[in-house]
Amino acid sequence: QKHIISIPELTRSELELIVETAGKLKAEPNPQLLKNKVVACCFFEPSTRTRLSFETAIQRLGGTVIGFDNGGNTSLANKGETLADSVQVISSYVDAFVIRHPQEGSARLASEFSHGVPVVNGGDGANQHPTQTLLDLFSIFETQGRLDNLNIAFVGDLKYGRTVHSLAQALSKFNNINFFFIAPEILAMPDYICEELNQAGINYSLHATMEEVIPKLDILYMTRVQKERLDESEYVHIKAAYVLTASMLADAPNNLKVLHPLPRIDEITVDVDKTKHAYYFQQAENGVYAREALLALVLNEQL
Ligand code: CP
Repeated sequence: QKHIISIPELTRSELELIVETAGKLKAEPNPQLLKNKVVACCFFEPSTRTRLSFETAIQRLGGTVIGFDNGGNTSLANKGETLADSVQVISSYVDAFVIRHPQEGSARLASEFSHGVPVVNGGDGANQHPTQTLLDLFSIFETQGRLDNLNIAFVGDLKYGRTVHSLAQALSKFNNINFFFIAPEILAMPDYICEELNQAGINYSLHATMEEVIPKLDILYMTRVQKERLDESEYVHIKAAYVLTASMLADAPNNLKVLHPLPRIDEITVDVDKTKHAYYFQQAENGVYAREALLALVLNEQL
């Protein structure tokens, strides 16, 4: 059975299958797909959307969820148990294991100790967030009708923003994608992602302002500056570097959608919510369908 640890390990056709399955489950709910299956959702780092949408997905498909949302309050942390030992115990109870953990590489480590129980990465440090990427791809497909031939801007914290790392890697499997990167210098896209894009022959360019690219875009993907990963002095200096307002979308193409993995702080003003371009709350809802699709395919051994 397949572990879902990072986007580079999924093929284009697997990504398309997940997006197509999410669309089917959104249109036609199926409360039988995970009947008699138990899924652990173990969140060692805070989460609202990922955890609750996984739990909703499992319950809507007829499965049962166990787990916790604060590793610091469990015996794992309090008694000093290693992650490897915790995974061996919990995976012996369940059919699939969803994990979020602050340490990069933690989901892969979990997959090495789960005795074949599929592990799904719900976010590992600043590294990967593959299931966020699946709902992002579903939202892009739903609004644009395609995953090829896209102009997409990533704005904000591109250094620590694991969602943009995973989404850039996913879209690089599709044809004729143009990326526009807009970030403070200290939060620039990591070199390894730029190098991967270079090797794949994908176009990307760096820009100082959103206004100069908005008229060309299909997707404007905003991100939050991650306070928890910066010094206070750095955070104060750059937190308001890029703020999207409704008036900045005056020259946006009709089809442009604004996405954001959420939570937002103040990088999108609330007046944007009322425009035809705002899609971040529908995107968050799509997390349920994308995660339903992923679990159904993994647990029925179609991935
Ligand atoms: N987008 C996202 O991962 O949100 P949570 O941290 O609330 O899960």
